[in-house]
Amino acid sequence: MLLLPLLVMLVLSHAVGDNSIYDEMFMFEEFEELLTSDAIEKEFLEIPHWTSQHGSKVLVNVDAFGAVGDGISDDTQAFLSAWDKACSTPKSVFLVPEKRRYLLKPATFKGPCADNLIIQIDGTIVAPDDPKNWDPQNPRTWLHFSKLTGVSFQGAGVIDGSGGKWWDSSCKKNKSNPCVEAPTALTIQASSAVRVKGLTIQNSQQMHFVITNSDSVRILNVKISAPGTSPNTDGIHITKSTNVVIQDCKIGTGDDCISIVNGSSGIKMKNINCGPGHGISIGSLGKDNSTGIVTKIVVDNAFFKETTNGLRIKTWQGGSGYVRAVRFQNVRVENIANPIIIDQFYCDSPKTCKNQTSAVEISQIMFQNISGTTKSANAMKFACSDTVPCSKIVLSNINLEKEDGTAETYCNSAKGFGYGYVHPSADCLQSSDKDTHSDQTEDVKILRPGPDNPKHTEL
Ligand SMILES: *[C@@H]1O[C@H](CO)[C@@H](O)[C@H](O)[C@H]1NC(C)=O
Ligand SMILES: *[C@@H]1O[C@H](CO)[C@@H](O)[C@H](O)[C@H]1NC(C)=O
Ligand SMILES: *[C@@H]1O[C@H](CO)[C@@H](O)[C@H](O)[C@H]1NC(C)=O
Ligand SMILES: *[C@@H]1O[C@H](CO)[C@@H](O)[C@H](O)[C@H]1NC(C)=O
Ligand SMILES: *[C@@H]1O[C@H](CO)[C@@H](O)[C@H](O)[C@H]1NC(C)=O
Repeated sequence: MLLLPLLVMLVLSHAVGDNSIYDEMFMFEEFEELLTSDAIEKEFLEIPHWTSQHGSKVLVNVDAFGAVGDGISDDTQAFLSAWDKACSTPKSVFLVPEKRRYLLKPATFKGPCADNLIIQIDGTIVAPDDPKNWDPQNPRTWLHFSKLTGVSFQGAGVIDGSGGKWWDSSCKKNKSNPCVEAPTALTIQASSAVRVKGLTIQNSQQMHFVITNSDSVRILNVKISAPGTSPNTDGIHITKSTNVVIQDCKIGTGDDCISIVNGSSGIKMKNINCGPGHGISIGSLGKDNSTGIVTKIVVDNAFFKETTNGLRIKTWQGGSGYVRAVRFQNVRVENIANPIIIDQFYCDSPKTCKNQTSAVEISQIMFQNISGTTKSANAMKFACSDTVPCSKIVLSNINLEKEDGTAETYCNSAKGFGYGYVHPSADCLQSSDKDTHSDQTEDVKILRPGPDNPKHTEL
């Protein structure tokens, strides 16, 4: 692929006096593995659509267990009874029929289940709008699935959190409200080999879709939407999970389109449309002096429109751990505030956060083929800790511009290099000790890739 010439170039350009290039090559190998790995894809392709195998499938229709589907009657018990049947029966299809609206209170659907369970959601599942339906001791989930293996969620149905009242009572909306926790619409916990395909998740009380403590999850063609003003309504949130592929998804909410936090590795996002929202985030990590570890993350092919951030890594002062081997590539942004941002001074708190000596270490972060328009002058911001600098930030083929032509790069304690066309210039990555800016006037030093000079390296 393209990678080999690229590596050779890097080696040539960095040739002597810098052993770190070998680490960088190692990092690229890991990426290559991640990018070309079809293992998960193949495994999932073998799960057929339920109708194609109807004969051998056992249909478990929620209506047969007393679900009314009028959007008013409480169908929770009917769903739980149908779940018990479907979960204990091999090759069953838990069916939520189309053209109906099922009101469900908070519910937990537990595995392990018999083999080859399909959860076919064609109708709408809607939450009660009043927060009083949640036990204040246990407000974090609405539809909670746990301990599933080899399960497929699919269908053209809708999961609707009816979150309006939760949003109004959020302390982010109205400072005189107490800060309380709110439910995630769909949670998949302690599961593996799970596929989620085609569903729409909307207006969640807080986060829309959380994957936690899970391995080998593939999310395909999922749509997530909530108003841009709805507080903390992240689209997909991944925590303590490995080997997750998120592909062909359209996400627009009031918080991060996708957020990836502690204990996650091998997360690949491909063909993501994000906006409104806060962008794709790694973090936050390191809050309250905690350890945060996130590695091997790829975003390939994404479009951001009217989001506050694009590609972001955010960590709190005082944390420990690391973020390593991250690749963001083939991204277009349209009119967004911070297209590229690494922020080791993240502070989502009413009090200001003191600078500390420890921080989550950030290194081996690559941005390649990122272009579009920025609303803020700092098109690229690398705000790194004085005591734990960011290192090995690699930029290649970047073209970000502000309408008035004043785009620039901010660096604090960030080290790395750019090659190919990089605009605004990122020279401050090489010199960066404290608080430096590069502006676009330095671009002339960097050669554009051309026919005779296919990706020349200029440092
Ligand atoms: C904020 O909440 C307080 C107390 O609940 C209420 O009196 C006030 O009207 C709210 N403000 C807005 C702008 O909604
Ligand atoms: C983060 O994950 C690591 C190991 O995966 C664990 O030791 C640590 O406690 C986690 N931190 C938090 C805040 O959960
Ligand atoms: C984090 O560590 C710093 C430095 O040791 C200490 O001052 C601070 O109180 C700690 N914060 C928390 C939330 O434990
Ligand atoms: C660069 O990224 C854009 C936007 O995703 C994509 O359309 C284009 O094909 C990419 N260019 C290359 C050379 O991969
Ligand atoms: C923390 O350090 C950064 C970088 O040196 C500096 O810009 C910022 O003002 C400091 N913040 C506080 C609260 O001292």
